Amino acid sequence: MTQSHTVQDHVGSSADLDFETNDARQEVVVIANRLPLRYSTSDVGGEWTPSPGGLVSALTAVLSESNGLWIGWPGATEYDSEPTYDGIRLQPVDITAEEYEEYYLGFSNATLWPLYHDAIRYPEFHRSWWHAYQAVNERFAKVAADSVAPGGIVWVHDYQLQLVPRMLRRLRPDVRIGFFLHIPFPAAELFMQMPWRKEILEGLLGADLIGFQVHTAAVNFSRIARRLTSAKGNAAVLEYDDREIRVGAFPISVDSAQISAKVDDPAIRERASAIRSELGDPELVMLGVDRLDYTKGIRQRIRALSELYSEGFLIPGRDVMVQIAVPSRESDAHYDVARRNIEQSVGETNGDLGLVGKPVIHYIHQNLPFDELVALYLAADVMLVTPFRDGMNLVAKEYVMAHSDMTGRLVLSEFAGAAMELTGAFMVNPHDLDGLKDVIRAAVSAPENTARARMARMRRSVLGRTVYDWADSFLGALRTDPVIAPLTVDESRPLTP
Ligand code: F6P
Repeated sequence: MTQSHTVQDHVGSSADLDFETNDARQEVVVIANRLPLRYSTSDVGGEWTPSPGGLVSALTAVLSESNGLWIGWPGATEYDSEPTYDGIRLQPVDITAEEYEEYYLGFSNATLWPLYHDAIRYPEFHRSWWHAYQAVNERFAKVAADSVAPGGIVWVHDYQLQLVPRMLRRLRPDVRIGFFLHIPFPAAELFMQMPWRKEILEGLLGADLIGFQVHTAAVNFSRIARRLTSAKGNAAVLEYDDREIRVGAFPISVDSAQISAKVDDPAIRERASAIRSELGDPELVMLGVDRLDYTKGIRQRIRALSELYSEGFLIPGRDVMVQIAVPSRESDAHYDVARRNIEQSVGETNGDLGLVGKPVIHYIHQNLPFDELVALYLAADVMLVTPFRDGMNLVAKEYVMAHSDMTGRLVLSEFAGAAMELTGAFMVNPHDLDGLKDVIRAAVSAPENTARARMARMRRSVLGRTVYDWADSFLGALRTDPVIAPLTVDESRPLTP
């Protein structure tokens, strides 16, 4: 059956909602741009496959435990059948082909995404994109308002839905609303560029609790909110519209137990050994796993490796790099250019330095199953995570969890949120190519006992705060009336500004 669009033209007041006829409303509703499954069509038909990204992997872990409702976009304008997912009730929200262009590719990913990632690419500001963003946010708010039980909780996720908290509050003043931003929140110098800056802040201020990945982002938000809206208060508690809004850092994490179980699975361990032998039994395996995104520093990483091979520190055949680049936002021109640049660099490096049957970089542009990723983590001696800016980066934490035997070395950008917690990593400024080469050299050459101690420190950090702790701390704070201190992280290290 092909679904028809259920687009609402506008959202009115709470009087528009017919609670009597809706008897399946949920205590806890999660709302994110994407469902955990997305629909795609090919010559052989359509299928539901797991959606990419850290948000989906984190929330899937949490929601499959609690049998909650997940509201999101199925990733296609037309799809066959309702998606189903283990233990999670899914409520698709449709968007039109035009909204896909203007709300998703446009305002979400060509305005907000670059603006919130240090304007690594120039953010484009178009009024029609803004109007589409408002319309789609209204639709999500209406579906959430229809789905949540009286006095229930709605947890809104990420930059695509920043207007939902305020819209939802107008419709359902009885519910508690939490908002969590998975990506960075920029400093005022950048955020002030946004033509609709006040509207976005007021959208977020509709929540009772606003969570960010790191303390710096929370402080950026509170400071700008006090400057541009009538909000008063301090970094942790704002007073706005006769309400108290809590703001804090809730660093997201991974399902440590799930990864540990996979690491102990003989089939996955065998696969890790097989990967090493398929790579030609090299002495050193380096690994990168990223969505193919210009923020991730993939090309910079390849340039650093290429120079290390040319200079003889790395030897073709003896040392190999595996780069998994998960396809992402492929209809956006910036992503297309990023892909071509990366693939050109891979081709040049292999052409200049590879041997027959022994490329120096094994490049895979595919969305791999999680078991295969865990096998790759296990097989890798050094993991390279070098984004120019990243909200958290769960790949770094997944790699750490895969190394229960304390092997493995992590090279980590100081501009990833994960750097605040994974202090045992080999820290790098990815903008500094020579610095990146030095840090890769240091990671490869570090004595085993030093590397093991670093890994042990990182594992303690990840084991001490799993994705369930993240969700519990956020939902606990949202459910609690008195002001409680949000989870804090040791940010004494002088890293990012
Ligand atoms: O974490 C940022 C994020 O945009 C998530 O919201 C999303 O799950 C992931 O990246 C993948 O992006 P997209 O949904 O645009 O494919």
